[in-house]
Amino acid sequence: MRWIKWIKNRFIPSKPESVVGLSWESADFGGAETGSKTVLEVEDLSVSFVQYEKGLQQKQMKVISSLDIAINRGEILAVVGSSGSGKSLLAHAILGILPENASVTGSIKYNGKELTLQRQAMLRGNEIALVPQSVNYLDPLMQVGAQVRTGIKNGDALAVQREVFDRYQLKPEVDRFYPFQLSGGMARRILISTAIVSDAQLVIADEPTPGLDPEVVEETLGYFREMSARGCAVMLITHDIETALKIADKVAVFYAGTTVEVAPIENFSGDGEALRHPYSKALWRALPQNGFMPIPGAQPMPNNLPEGCLFAPRCSMATSECSIKQPKVRKLRDGMVRCGHAT
Ligand SMILES: Nc1ncnc2c1ncn2[C@@H]1O[C@H](COP(=O)(O)OP(=O)(O)OP(=O)(O)O)[C@@H](O)[C@H]1O
Ligand code: SF4
Ligand SMILES: [Mg+2]
Repeated sequence: MRWIKWIKNRFIPSKPESVVGLSWESADFGGAETGSKTVLEVEDLSVSFVQYEKGLQQKQMKVISSLDIAINRGEILAVVGSSGSGKSLLAHAILGILPENASVTGSIKYNGKELTLQRQAMLRGNEIALVPQSVNYLDPLMQVGAQVRTGIKNGDALAVQREVFDRYQLKPEVDRFYPFQLSGGMARRILISTAIVSDAQLVIADEPTPGLDPEVVEETLGYFREMSARGCAVMLITHDIETALKIADKVAVFYAGTTVEVAPIENFSGDGEALRHPYSKALWRALPQNGFMPIPGAQPMPNNLPEGCLFAPRCSMATSECSIKQPKVRKLRDGMVRCGHAT
């Protein structure tokens, strides 16, 4: 896909130092990726950036300290969390489009096999599609109809592209527009179209709906449902729990670069008593319809993380043990939690 090449040209490291513990040389060019029930599995992922301090001293700043998620075939996982919690960086790490000064540890598996730089390059825009958060990811030098058509591998590309544009109320003349001629809403519909027309097995949609009319939001969520119904694994990144609950099977809650909980959507009900982590419960109870009880304090910045559990300074259940060591993520009931006291 041309716009994926555009992303690549902007962000792919020229040298492969920032791979997920894997070497560029260990070639792994499998054929079509088929298979296992678990399409994507991310374990203990961390991302750091090299920064320069006074006197040009190098410092590693860890912005994601431990992310864990998994998505099965035909499943929609919503990823929710406040700004800066690591949602987009996770998407970019999976696609292999982090900036050059990023370094990554942990494991990212696609269809049971570790994602190397080669596999990321091979799968990006083909089996793995991204709807990026920013409309700046469109190639500024290519007409948008042609950009979308490059992702269509089967059938009459023009007819398929036109059909999707029609469904999105994008008139025929828009096919020949360049990105600078689009309104924000049009550009977003075009980015979503690139994922809809692809044959991807894994779609990662990073905040796809802000700025769209309510009907267009519903239509877009409907497309993601259709994709999951035909076996695609979908990761929907959003700030908005209510949007997530409309279409997701399960929800992963991120906090300060960690996964604090993964829960089936049924657990987001009542006063949140079925949820596992104090932060997820607090997020749920902060919604206007659930009593609007805001959580005191703020998510810590990456350069000022507390010792132990990152949520401890805001947690009403915190004990002295909580500030000693960051809890590991563990299975609990039919979900996961990162809290020593959750039951
Ligand atoms: N290139 C970078 N260099 C240094 N820090 C970065 C870089 N990109 C992101 N960060 C930091 O990493 C953290 C996670 O960023 P990320 O963009 O993943 O957040 P997000 O959850 O997607 O937020 P939002 O909801 O605002 O999109 C933030 O603290 C951000 O400032
Ligand atoms: S580990 Fe302690 S501080 Fe962290 S969420 Fe659980 S109870 Fe709260
Ligand atoms: Mg983001």
